[in-house]
Amino acid sequence: MSGAAAEGGLLDAARAVKERAYAPYSEFRVGAALQSTDGRIFTGCNVENASYPVGLCAERAALGTAVASGARRFGLLAVASDAATPTPPCGMCRQALSEFGMELKIVSTSRDGVCVSWRLGDLLPAHFELQDRSGEGADG
Ligand code: THU
Repeated sequence: MSGAAAEGGLLDAARAVKERAYAPYSEFRVGAALQSTDGRIFTGCNVENASYPVGLCAERAALGTAVASGARRFGLLAVASDAATPTPPCGMCRQALSEFGMELKIVSTSRDGVCVSWRLGDLLPAHFELQDRSGEGADG
């Protein structure tokens, strides 16, 4: 499968899971699809809560499912929302994803299908890591 086809499939998965988002407070639905380097796809949506800070972003929901399934190496993350312009992952999600490598490509689509992509390391140039545990996320 070509890179563009793989990206299109992952964006479709992100758009599909966005429909399951639980976002009654913000009404901002987000879907995320994370592809591991062995080709598996893990999806997540935002899950809000009446106690607002308890809410979970789509990207971290997908990451949690991936790690629970044994995946730690990722090549591509697709994000879908109904925003007018494609949105990058929030700062907390950038830090969460950075645990597993800074080379991750992130592609985000707007409601109209406009796509923008970034490299995680460019979105978060200086991530926090515990000095004596560097690299453990992807390799351990
Ligand atoms: N949200 C995500 O799911 N991912 C992001 O990267 C940014 C924000 C969610 C959190 C909240 O449920 C809603 O979007 C509005 O902030």
